[in-house]
Amino acid sequence: MHLPRFLVATLSALPCSALPALQARESTPSTITPETLASFDFWVQYAAAAYCEPNYIAQAGQKLACWAGNCPAVEAADTTILLDFSNATITDTAGFLAVDHTHSSLILAFRGSYSVRNWVTDATFLYTDPQLCPGCFAELGFWSAWTNVRANITAALTRAREQYPTYSLQVVGHSLGAAIATLAAADLRATAGETVELYAFASPRVANPVLAQYITAQATQQQKGANYRFTHTVDPVPNLPLLAMGYSHVSPEYHITAPDNSTVVASQVVVYSDGDYVRGNTGVGVPDLLRFDAHHWYFERADACIESGLPWR
Ligand SMILES: *[C@@H]1O[C@H](CO)[C@@H](O)[C@H](O)[C@H]1NC(C)=O
Ligand SMILES: *[C@@H]1O[C@H](CO)[C@@H](O)[C@H](O)[C@H]1NC(C)=O
Ligand SMILES: *[C@@H]1O[C@H](CO)[C@@H](O)[C@H](O)[C@H]1NC(C)=O
Repeated sequence: MHLPRFLVATLSALPCSALPALQARESTPSTITPETLASFDFWVQYAAAAYCEPNYIAQAGQKLACWAGNCPAVEAADTTILLDFSNATITDTAGFLAVDHTHSSLILAFRGSYSVRNWVTDATFLYTDPQLCPGCFAELGFWSAWTNVRANITAALTRAREQYPTYSLQVVGHSLGAAIATLAAADLRATAGETVELYAFASPRVANPVLAQYITAQATQQQKGANYRFTHTVDPVPNLPLLAMGYSHVSPEYHITAPDNSTVVASQVVVYSDGDYVRGNTGVGVPDLLRFDAHHWYFERADACIESGLPWR
């Protein structure tokens, strides 16, 4: 296993006192029902659709489709793309806002980055103040990726709300797209008065413990919409940036224990509740950066559309 430079540098530079006090609650993990699994099997298809270039390049007014065949339920629904975004910003944030009349829902989906492999070895994790709560800090790259597109998205969302005031709002993404989705959901709940269901597949950590707890409490205490944060076996990405670097995760965690490329059954999704963030994916140990197969498989091959002549950088 190969440790990236920043890990070696950070781990050797950290005095023991800088390690966060891990006061995780050891709750009894639970599993999910087949009905809940069916909803996860559905919403991941929107995260998958955000990787398919035709959905995020100049397609407003069109219907969503996945050339890789990994969003059949989305294709079967009555959907229209309301806004697509890509290329316009230095962070290359890409995705779409769409309406799904079959499920009475608005969906904001963020594409993962083509450069996730570079990200795990080269990223410099800096904090910025997202001004969401006292003492809250967000990872600078992810927060900028959201704020660079926020004005256009909130304008489109406001227009959509005039037409579809009763529709639910889901914010979804896989990998680095899940990181942006997590912060976008937190911000839209706090500043746009939205109730947001967050579906974050394979998200890295995006927040310091204060912000992570704030986002968890948006769901559990403020009733602003549920957080569904998924990890898969030994996927290294959700284990970064490290707890030891001061980063924390939003709860709860839905840890998928099924092998790569296998159909997931309900008993293979283990739920770790609020505050219990050192088991699940974190509990598998130091991130193994060679175990990328686990990163791709979230109920299905979530990033299959990435492979169309747009290779990993
Ligand atoms: C935007 O990026 C896509 C690849 O994601 C590329 O095909 C397209 O040419 C780019 N457009 C502009 C205007 O740079
Ligand atoms: C926002 O929308 C305007 C008008 O369509 C467009 O020119 C601009 O590039 C968009 N900005 C971003 C960051 O997507
Ligand atoms: C899973 O599928 C991918 C893509 O088809 C393949 O590269 C990988 O080897 C498979 N992994 C396993 C464990 O079968």
